[in-house]
Parts: sequence; C-alpha cells; structure tokens
Amino acid sequence: MQHVAVSNGMLNVFAQGKGTPLLFVHGFPLNHGMWHLQVDAFTKKTRVIVPDLRGFGESTVTVGTVGMEEMSDDLHGVLHGVWVDKPVVFCGLSMGGYVAWQFFRKYRSQLRALILCDTRATADTPEAAAGRQKLAETVMAEGGQAAYDAVLPKLLSPKTTERWPELVANVKSMVLRNKPAGIAAALRGMAARPDCTDILPQIDVPTLVICGQDDQITPPAEMQNMAEAIPGAQFVQIPNAGHLAPLENPDAVNGAINRFLISLDGRPA
Ligand code: MLT
Repeated sequence: MQHVAVSNGMLNVFAQGKGTPLLFVHGFPLNHGMWHLQVDAFTKKTRVIVPDLRGFGESTVTVGTVGMEEMSDDLHGVLHGVWVDKPVVFCGLSMGGYVAWQFFRKYRSQLRALILCDTRATADTPEAAAGRQKLAETVMAEGGQAAYDAVLPKLLSPKTTERWPELVANVKSMVLRNKPAGIAAALRGMAARPDCTDILPQIDVPTLVICGQDDQITPPAEMQNMAEAIPGAQFVQIPNAGHLAPLENPDAVNGAINRFLISLDGRPA
C-alpha cells in the first residue's frame, strides 16, 4: 500500500501490475479489502488500483460531510499520484457507483469503460436521507458497531450469512476498522447525493452492470432498468450472491469482468 497525496489529505492506495488500468472503488462502510479476490485475479493481467476512499481504511478522515463529487476528485488525484496516464476502467460497487457518476461527469476523458456493481443512479428518498443523518449521529455517539448492525442484514445474501461465517467476520472487521467520523461523513455525503438518472443515456463508454441475484439493497429488477437506460450496457446477474457480489461469488464476478475486459480489446478507447 502507498499513501498518495490528494487535495486536503492522503489516500491509502494499493497499485500493482501492468496494462489496462483497472480502478476498484469500494462500497459503504468497507475499505479496499473488499476487492481482495479481484486483486488476486487481475494483477497478473492489468494495472490494478484500489484505494481506501476518504474516511475509510487508512485514508484521511474529513469531519462533517464528504460528498460523492469530492470522492471523485480524490480518485482523480490518486490516478495522477500513481502515474496512470491512460483512461481507466472504473469498477465501483454501490457507493463506489455513486462516485462513478461524478467521475463520468467531471473526468470523462479519463474513462475507458465502466463496471457498475450493485448500485443505483437515483438519489435517496427524503426518508432514506433522514435515516442516514440519524445513523450518522448514532455512529458518532456509539461507534462503528452501530453502522455494522444497521447495514449487515442487507449487505450479504441470507445464504451467505448462514453458510460463510468467515466472510461475515471479514466484513465486520472491515467495518469496525473505520473511524466513526469517516463513516458519518460518507453517510451525510450519500444523503446529499444528487439524482444521476439523467447521466445514464449520456454514458458513451462500454459499460458492464453486475448485480447479485439476492441483492436486497439494489435488487436485480432495479439494476436491469438502470442498465437498459445506458446505451449498449451489458447486464449480468450473479447467482448465490447478495449486495457484495464480488466477495460472495468472486468466480462469477471475475469471469464477467474478464469477459468484459477481453471485449474491450480492439474497441477504440
Ligand atoms: C454500499 O454498499 O455502498 C451501500 O449500500 C450504499 C448505500 O448505503 O446506499
């Protein structure tokens, strides 16, 4: 891991390998470690870049609110900091997808393709936004365990939770390693994020949309609708997986990413 200076702070980043740059952006409230099975699979063939977003893992914590646009600016800084000079394949899960919309809006020339896992383009409803604000207060008062208790029931599929205690423990330790102020700032940032459905028909890079078939947060029917609004996007449903499909069924997710990367070869950037 290396520490990369960005505006007003530092991001902790894993960067390794050669070839097409593949940027993995984690979901809430996790860290770069959620991609470890993709790192293992893709560092041999691509240049893999995996940051901890601001407020997570070992990256700078900004107290208050950290918006999705600020996170996209951080990623732009990271790419500069690790000397990526080619457009990247941006793979974001859930909150990582919210950041992807902002990256597309601001840094389109640095995008080769998009992979959107278990995410949505719509903003929070007023009720959902209020729930996040309340959870941010609870996390500040009681610590990261409150965030874990709130999100775990829906992060993994019920089958994964029942059959794979090591994975549940791994997710828990990722959540609890984050500082409460970082979790709270991202909650407030997600609550304030804009609706991005207007961006979908403008997306003019190859796009792969991936969804765990048992995803309870961004269910397959919703994600399929989102994929249909993106010109030429492919939609892949992952069996035996919930919202954290890359961790729950890495073989299927890695296979889909691999086929997508091969399909990019020979297509103009
Ligand atoms: C995530 O996995 O990043 C979260 O489910 C995003 C959210 O809370 O909307």
